[in-house]
Amino acid sequence: MFDIVARFPDKAWLEATAEKLNQKMLYAVEKAKKNDFIPYDTTSDGEFKRTDIRMWTNGFWPAMMWQMYLATKDETYRAEAIRTEEMMDEALADFKTLHHDVGFMWLIHCAVRYKLEGNQESYDRTLFAAQTLAARFNPKGFIRAWNGRDQQGWAIIDCMMNLPLLYWASDMTNDPRFRLIAMKHADTAMNHFVRADGSVNHIVVFDPETGDVVDTLGGQGYEKGSSWSRGQSWALYGFTLSYLCTGKQEYLDTAKRVANYFIANVGSDYIPRCDFRQPEQPDLKDNAAGAVASCGLLELAKVVPECEARPYYNAAVKMLMAMEQHCSNWDNDIPAVFNKCTVAYHQYPGRHSTMNYADYYFVEAINKLRGQEYNFWMPNK
Ligand code: GLY
Repeated sequence: MFDIVARFPDKAWLEATAEKLNQKMLYAVEKAKKNDFIPYDTTSDGEFKRTDIRMWTNGFWPAMMWQMYLATKDETYRAEAIRTEEMMDEALADFKTLHHDVGFMWLIHCAVRYKLEGNQESYDRTLFAAQTLAARFNPKGFIRAWNGRDQQGWAIIDCMMNLPLLYWASDMTNDPRFRLIAMKHADTAMNHFVRADGSVNHIVVFDPETGDVVDTLGGQGYEKGSSWSRGQSWALYGFTLSYLCTGKQEYLDTAKRVANYFIANVGSDYIPRCDFRQPEQPDLKDNAAGAVASCGLLELAKVVPECEARPYYNAAVKMLMAMEQHCSNWDNDIPAVFNKCTVAYHQYPGRHSTMNYADYYFVEAINKLRGQEYNFWMPNK
């Protein structure tokens, strides 16, 4: 197996970055603790912006706390993870407003806490979330993304990252239903989201009665037929995880196809544009895409033959180092590290902002490179 820890080219950078993350996150936690909401974005005067408890990004903060706890064993992080996990019960109780992003919201901290500490409430929260996700499955072969009035047939590539919640639920309950639903959705995504060249659609609209493809939409990318880089990264890491959870070879082949496309398009500065097919100007970037893709590439590097692993590994390392060198803020004037994250090409504001999951995935990648084998997306393994 390609050793992603031993191969790292600059141990001094890695250790210095881990220490800077610790200092920054301790500062961020002190700010967060004063709030009755979960951090996501920051204001220009260095505070966290208020967010809704139902936001799809809310799981990343407690998950980052657990990542930091595993890296440092500092109780501050564990306490903050548990405080915010409990806050999210309000969203879980309001189940009619939940959507497909319940994997992002609960798997990566509740199931992690259950694995680490055996907390029964955390297990129950995760299983409840899995049941709401399974209930969104349309037997024509896809998981419905959102609850909009005319969105019964809408599915989105991001959902690949929610499927591990279903794999977890099958493992925990010894009931294959959850895994079978996840694999049906992954098969559909392979056939209808991933294009021949390895680029992906963000949104595919299916006829909810027949399962036929009605349309594809540009979604958070530039336009129909374009290639939203974060969607690419969700597919890259998502298919890798589906492979790791099921062993199905086609998922690995698909992940590699998407990875090859991503690397071919990331550009010489290794900081992904928001959409790989956007116009030259403005030079809109999305660091979150780079952080997610890096985590996926590191996992891919571990499972492919050595000669294939090197390009995946090198691209991940270059993206992470480029993020750190050109898009980070280590000063304690703002409680987030990475800027130049973009919500959607056409969304204002939301360009070149901070986002909790750019920080989360960067922390996940740094922990992987420092030898943490435990993967939060496969928490029972
Ligand atoms: N899952 C929504 C996004 O990536 O913005």
